[in-house]
Formats: sequence, C-alpha cells, structure tokens
Amino acid sequence: MTTAIRIDGKARAAELSAHISADTARLVQQHGITPGLAVLIVGEDPASQVYVRNKKRTAEACGFYSVQHTLAADTSEAEVIKLIASLNADDSVHGILVQLPLPPQLDEKRITQSVVPQKDVDGFHYVNIGKLTAGDTDDAFVPCTPAGCMLMIEEQLGKDLSGKRAVVVGRSNIVGKPMASLLLAANATVTIAHSRTRDLPALTREADILVAAVGRAHMVQGDWIKPGAVVIDVGINRVEASEAGDTVSRLTGDVDFAAAMQHAAAVTPVPGGVGPMTIAMLMANTLRAAQLTRQRMK
Ligand code: GUN
Repeated sequence: MTTAIRIDGKARAAELSAHISADTARLVQQHGITPGLAVLIVGEDPASQVYVRNKKRTAEACGFYSVQHTLAADTSEAEVIKLIASLNADDSVHGILVQLPLPPQLDEKRITQSVVPQKDVDGFHYVNIGKLTAGDTDDAFVPCTPAGCMLMIEEQLGKDLSGKRAVVVGRSNIVGKPMASLLLAANATVTIAHSRTRDLPALTREADILVAAVGRAHMVQGDWIKPGAVVIDVGINRVEASEAGDTVSRLTGDVDFAAAMQHAAAVTPVPGGVGPMTIAMLMANTLRAAQLTRQRMK
C-alpha cells in the first residue's frame, strides 16, 4: 500500500523564516525600520509559556525587536487595557499579541478588541475578521494558524480549490471559522462541523481537504478519511504514553497519523506540522505590519 506525503511544517516554517529574516534585514537597512513584536502573557499557564517563549525566540531569529510583558494572574482588566493602549501608541511596536487563554477575571473580547487593527497580528480584531469574512484576504491580518494551514493546503493542491470539498472540524474563532473563510475565498465548497454535527465520519469521508481542530486526541480515524485527501491536523493534545515501562507525556494531534497515512494523499504530523507554521505566520504578519507603517508614512 502506498503511503501519504508527510507534510513537513517544520522545514517549511524554517524556509519562511529565512525569507522573513532577509526581508527584515532589507527593511532595516533601507528604511531604518525594525519590525517590533510585543507579546503579553497574563498568568502562568505552562503551555502558554512554552508558546510565548517560541514566539520570542523566532522573532529574535528573524531580526525583530521583541518585547514580552508577563503580568500576574490577578492583573485587572483596566491594567491590561492600559498596557495595550501604551503599546498601540508605541512606534517601535508593529504587532501586539495577547496570549490566550486569559484568567477568568479578564474579558477576552474587550481585551482582544482593544488592540488597534493595524497592530492586530493575531487577526482577532473585528475589523480584520470582517475583511477576511468579506473575502478581502489580502488586506486583512489573517489568524496565524489557519493562514499556515492554508499555505500547506495550497502547496499540495494549488491556489484554486474550485470543485474541492473541504470539511473543517471545529468552529472556534481562532481556527475553525477563519479557516472556513480562507477555504471559501479559494473557491472550495466548505462545511464546518462541530460537536453537535450528526454522523461526523460520513461527512469527513467526503472531504478532499480535511482540517481537524477539535482538541481530542486521535478522534479522526483512518476510515474517516477519503482516499487521496489532504489532512491538516491542528490538534495539540498532551497524552500519557508508556515507553519502555515508563509513563511519559507526549504531544499528539486530533488525527490518528499512522492510520491517516494509509488513506490520505498528504498529512501534517503533530508535532512538526501546523505548530511551527503558526509561528512563522505570526512573523510574516508582524513584518507586514511594519512594512505597512512605511507605506502610511509616504
Ligand atoms: N492561544 C492558542 N492559540 C493562540 C493564538 O493563535 N493566538 C493567541 N494570542 N493565543 C493563542
């Protein structure tokens, strides 16, 4: 039996970062603008701390100015919004990212909407969501995870997805909904499935493009996958596994990768698929935000 292509997100992200570094060096040299990324983290969620550290490391590797604000878990909403206002006004900062999830006393909506749209490199502001939903994908800051997924899909199937059926499992504002908008803008026929969908396997079996973003380890089995499909696994689930008699903790996706490789044409692994691409797209958005400030000054 032939097996599928393992889409190497880590290698693709490294290529993208190399391009971003080169473009950054040009922007610094020719225009004296260093892209600046500010990351805010509130509290001590261990997974968030790992993500934020990776974002900072990649930003520095790309030649960006990178600043991290770590706030105590009991910080008030007014304080967070005041800090965001100061970053909105800071010309050395082109991109602002507030790491989610936030502690319960903070209203996620009010906080994400307080970042000005032109620094909203996460694509969470309603102005950017509106542009994306209206099909104005070139003008919007697109959320990083679906943007990275879309690049990998295009590399397998081309930019025009006319006639293709896409199924997105998961309806979150960060992944599922923007993913569906991007696929629709590329002419795919899109279905969004979620926890209330009836007979999910029957639906996913019709998908030429299957994006799994639910957060349930190995939910998507081999026989849920249409032969020849492109499968993008957004899940990052921590599971306990036993290795040589020891219990170890490992990251795994929403898709049973080994089984998917026997059915699909191409599959993203976890780790090493969507995750590194997400960070690369954050760098791409930040560079673009910096480049756009120059155009506004002209
Ligand atoms: N937490 C999990 N994913 C994301 C993301 O894409 N952006 C932010 N800001 N927080 C997240």
